Amino acid sequence: RPLDINVELPDDQAAQKIKIGMYFATWWALNVVFNIYNKKVLNAFPYPWLTSTLSLACGSLMMLISWATRIADAPKTDFEFWKTLFPVAVAHTIGHVAATVSMSKVAVSFTHIIKSGEPAFSVLVSKFLLGDTFPLPVYLSLLPIIGGCALSAVTELNFNMTGFMGAMISNLAFVFRNIFSKKGMSGKSVSGMNYYACLSMLSLLILTPFAIAVEGPQMWAAGWQNALAQIGPNFVCQKTLNVKGRYAKWVAAQSIFYHLYNQVSYMSLDQISPLTFSIGNTMKRISVIVSSIIIFHTPVQPVNALGAAIAILGTFLYSQVYSHLHVI
Ligand code: 3PG
Repeated sequence: RPLDINVELPDDQAAQKIKIGMYFATWWALNVVFNIYNKKVLNAFPYPWLTSTLSLACGSLMMLISWATRIADAPKTDFEFWKTLFPVAVAHTIGHVAATVSMSKVAVSFTHIIKSGEPAFSVLVSKFLLGDTFPLPVYLSLLPIIGGCALSAVTELNFNMTGFMGAMISNLAFVFRNIFSKKGMSGKSVSGMNYYACLSMLSLLILTPFAIAVEGPQMWAAGWQNALAQIGPNFVCQKTLNVKGRYAKWVAAQSIFYHLYNQVSYMSLDQISPLTFSIGNTMKRISVIVSSIIIFHTPVQPVNALGAAIAILGTFLYSQVYSHLHVI
């Protein structure tokens, strides 16, 4: 696959850089807001299968309304399109639920530290399942990623195996999602925004029966009563506000921001190479890790932070090695 070959005039290049910069800033900001509201919801109402379903339902509804009111043009799709999208949607669904399950068990920062190991999964899946081979420096660049994530995991104060495994499964699922997406998006006539909209809808169809089977209405009803009891005392200074309304606002915010950040990320994927995308994704995790530690007062030991820093630096090293060796 060709590298980013820039044949534009300097003015166009500057405009393109500003455009991509704006996409990135919007993507990260939306993602930080999503992660904060998602964790607030999960703290009060730890039903990740339901909240994952609601995020997809909200995004699907937003896009159906946009198409019906012609705010956005509906895509022209055929059976072949949906068939190619199916494996992407399966992987997206698994990756989404697994990450949400993880965040319901551990600190947001910990989930994202483990998720910064995604490039390592990408190389290992390509090698062992697809039979791709890479030059030695690529494998060496994985050592700080794996080592940093491992150091962070063993020194995590609130380590939980389900939380750890959820983030690991999410990494694996998103590697497959990216592999399948490449096929689905190359030469496509559907824009990044509509591609993600269709992905949301198909994922929603896949996830709903599983969410009902794993958690289900009875559990949700009991959890809702529990959540109402928990939220009240945290807001004694705002007694006048309706607690149910406040909780519904958190759910709405996490769902809307989930759709928006993913939509912007797919829109930026239209403009940039997968390599630039993965660097952007790692930078995104730094903003999420730092902001969630501040907002949720997550306890962090120096050695734990060192592990996170090594893992993230490792991802940069990996992208540098990748781009210099022209393997992406
Ligand atoms: C999700 O719920 O899908 C995850 O939070 C996704 O994480 P990512 O988009 O940061 O990989």
